[in-house]
This record gives sequence, C-alpha cells and structure tokens, in this order.
Amino acid sequence: MPRSDRGSDFAPGGADGLDPEDWSELRAQGHKMLDNMFDYVEGIRRRPVWQPIPDDARARFRAELPRDPSPLADVHREFTEFVLPYATGNVHPGFMGWVHGGGTAVGMLAEMLAGGLNANLGGRDHMPIEVERQVVAWMRQAFGFPLEASGLFVTGTSMANLLAVLVARARALGEQVRQTGVGGVGTRLRAYSSVAAHGCIAQAMDLSGLGSEALRRVGIDAAHRIDIAALREAIRADREAGLEPFLVVGSAGTVDIGAIDDLRALHELCAEERLWFHIDGAFGALGVFSPEIAPRLAGLESADSIALDFHKWGQVPYDAGFLMVRDGQQHFDTFAAPAAYLRRETRGLAAGSPWPTDFGPDLSRGFRALKTWFTLKTFGTDRLGAMMARTCALARYLERRIAAEEQLELLAPVGLNIVCFRYRAANADELNAEIVADIHESGIAAPSTTTLAGKLAIRAAIVNHRTDEQDLDALVDAVLKVGRVRTA
Ligand SMILES: Cc1ncc(COP(=O)(O)O)c(C=O)c1O
Repeated sequence: MPRSDRGSDFAPGGADGLDPEDWSELRAQGHKMLDNMFDYVEGIRRRPVWQPIPDDARARFRAELPRDPSPLADVHREFTEFVLPYATGNVHPGFMGWVHGGGTAVGMLAEMLAGGLNANLGGRDHMPIEVERQVVAWMRQAFGFPLEASGLFVTGTSMANLLAVLVARARALGEQVRQTGVGGVGTRLRAYSSVAAHGCIAQAMDLSGLGSEALRRVGIDAAHRIDIAALREAIRADREAGLEPFLVVGSAGTVDIGAIDDLRALHELCAEERLWFHIDGAFGALGVFSPEIAPRLAGLESADSIALDFHKWGQVPYDAGFLMVRDGQQHFDTFAAPAAYLRRETRGLAAGSPWPTDFGPDLSRGFRALKTWFTLKTFGTDRLGAMMARTCALARYLERRIAAEEQLELLAPVGLNIVCFRYRAANADELNAEIVADIHESGIAAPSTTTLAGKLAIRAAIVNHRTDEQDLDALVDAVLKVGRVRTA
C-alpha cells in the first residue's frame, strides 16, 4: 500500500523501550485521535443511537495475538471502523436505557491527562491522592457528613454497596470476622431493603458470606417507597425468632422508577433499633446538588454509609463509583491489612498513611478522581444540579406526552427522571418487548424495559444531559408507529 494511503507510518517504540525516538509523528497522530473524538461527541446527534454489529464486522475485527507491531494510525483506523460505530450509545441524547450517564468532553480530556500521569492511587504520598481526598472532602460537605467520614472511589455502586455491607458486617460481628469468617453468629444476621432495591444488594449479601437469603425484601407503597411499618414488623419478627438484624439499605432513586425511600424515617428506625443505615444512592444521591431535588433526599445526611456513581447523573465518564462512610475508623478497620511490602513511613514516597488501599480491597487503583474533580470544578455543582433538575422536567414532559396518547399507558408514577409506560394491547408484554428491540435497531432511541407488577414496561431513564424534548418526541412517535404497525 502506498504510504499516502496508509496515513502515518508511525509505530510506537524506540530501540530500547516503548516511547518513540521521534515524538513529532506521534504528536500529529495524537491530535488526529483527539479531533476524532471531539468530532464524535460534537456530531453525536447525526449518528444512530445504537446499531447492531454486522456479522461481517465482528468477524473481520477478530484477529490473532499481534506479535508484530502495527503503525498507530492503522490501529486507530481499526478503532474508527470497528469500535466507534458500534459503541453502547449512551453518549447520544436518544439513549434512555438502564441508567447511563452521557459523559462530557471535559471528562474525556481528564481521562487523557490521567492516562498520561499513569498514577496508581492505591497509596503513597503524591498529589493524585490529594485529588481523591479533595473530592472526598467535597462529598462530605455536600452530604453534611463529619470530618472523620471516609470516602473511596470504586468501579461502581455495585462494588460500593458490597463494601458497605462488609463494613456493616464488621460492625455487627467485630473485626475478628476478618480472621474467623462469619461463623454461626453470621448465619443469624439479617439485612433489610425494599423489593424495589437493586439486585446488587442481594449480591453483596451473597458475596459477603451472609447469603442473599439473609436479605429481607420488604414491600413498597404506591410510590414504590419501602413500607416502614412492614419493615418495623419484619425486624421485630426476626428478633423474636432469635435472629440479629444488623443493616437497613434505603434507596435514593430505585432502579426501576427512581423512587426515593423515606430516608428520615429509615434513619429514625435504624437509630432506635441500632442498625447500620446504608443508602444506595447510585444515581439519586447526587441530587443534593439541586435545590429542587435535595429536599426529597432529607435523611441522607444521617446515613452510616452512602454508595453512588459519578458516572450516572454526574456525567463523569465510566467508571466512577464512590462510597462514603460516616465512621472512617470503622471503614479503615474493615479493610486495612498491614504488609511488609506496604510499610508506611513519615517521609519520602511511602508517607501519607492512611492510603486508599486501607479502605477497600483494591491495591492498584486508577485515577478516577481526576475526571470527577475536573467535572465538578469545570461545571460547578449548581450547574450539575440544574442539569439533573432539567432531566426531571423532561421526564414530566414525557409523562404528559404519554397521557395525551390513547394508545399509551403510564405504568408508574414519575417522581424523578424515569418514566415507565407501554403500548396498550392484548399481548402487551410481548408487543412492548418487540417495540423496544425494533426501536433499538432503528437507531432512533434506546429505552430499556423492566417489569412492574407483572407487566413489561418500556422504561425511559433520562440521565443524559444532552437529552431534549425532541428526543422524547422521537421516542413517543417511534413507539406509536411501531406499535401500530405490529398490531395492524
Ligand atoms: C439504584 C441502583 N443501584 C445500584 C446500581 C448498580 O450500579 P453500577 O452499575 O454502577 O454498579 C444501579 C445501576 O443502575 C442502580 O440504579
């Protein structure tokens, strides 16, 4: 192939290492790659939200272990041909599936800077750790937590919830549980959440050795909030049966419809019963940034621990999960594990104890804090809060559009930024699943589905800051059109 058709011949790697001997070609190629992603984000509306990967593309993408080098431009071209067009789609304003944030160009740039520094945030004394500590301090302030509260970046809320269960477990059984295992007493521990809590809570119980059956799943009211009286009764019955309630998990934004439990009432109950009060605030907890949403989160400030994701409503690029624990010492005691090769010093690079690795199972840790720090600083929490409130206003707009269409029915109250509805039909479950798949394949929008009271619902979670009324109109129009065609 002539050189001009192949783009740059730059192949990374000088004689002895992986850095180039001449940086100018890498620099030029790097700028092209950066522009490529700016073009992608800027022009995202002109693309389909998602498109199926053609069999041919999947097959051509597969390759043998690359033993020989390739020019960076060629590898980038492969990325633009095979990876970029078939991404998840959550950068697109028409993406409303599951609970995915849209990311920002600012977060993307911060990822590049973090990649350049290649810092390991497991520990030691360097400024990247101060960046994480700064975000922890900001979140203490945002949640009204005390100075001794600890915080840690993790992959996502599933992991943050698991760590919270482990901290609560150590509080209930004593730190010796780390050496002895949960033993007989452990089999008597019981945790409580509503039936609407995310599945990762039961998984956390499973992974913690307490067993998913030790999670009592309490009923909900019409607004999908945990039934406090039923919870109180479940705790009483368990105590009477000789079991040991130890943990209540409240939801600040349920995954199905975005319901917020009565966090104040949960706090009071936990205080009375001496139970650990954890809040799964995967997307909802950051609502504290919005004066409109914050009052509905009253009680969050009283939690023993909060799990959340900056990569959802916070729009930080994946992944950026976070755990905050009121009693930082308890958090430390649950995970810290001295090792000769991790000896702490009072000066030099091995200073700065305690280290983030003392608060979780990860020793090697990436610099998730940087993209979060950039996002919070660049946009400011007021603007982020206003963006979150806007997604809630858009959800109400979608609710009104659904109410105005005879063919559509709303399946749950719209309390936050999630709307569950469906096309009316005799075979509604089957039909609505087909409608969603058809719309995915059309590239117009990407809602997801869930099941509410036994009914399959089309679920539009408006999390992306780019989503607008026109995207919701496109979704409604597509649902009506596909529904009509499929029922004709
Ligand atoms: C309420 C809730 N909890 C937990 C999770 C899991 O979070 P992650 O996917 O970051 O692990 C989600 C994900 O959508 C969620 O909505």
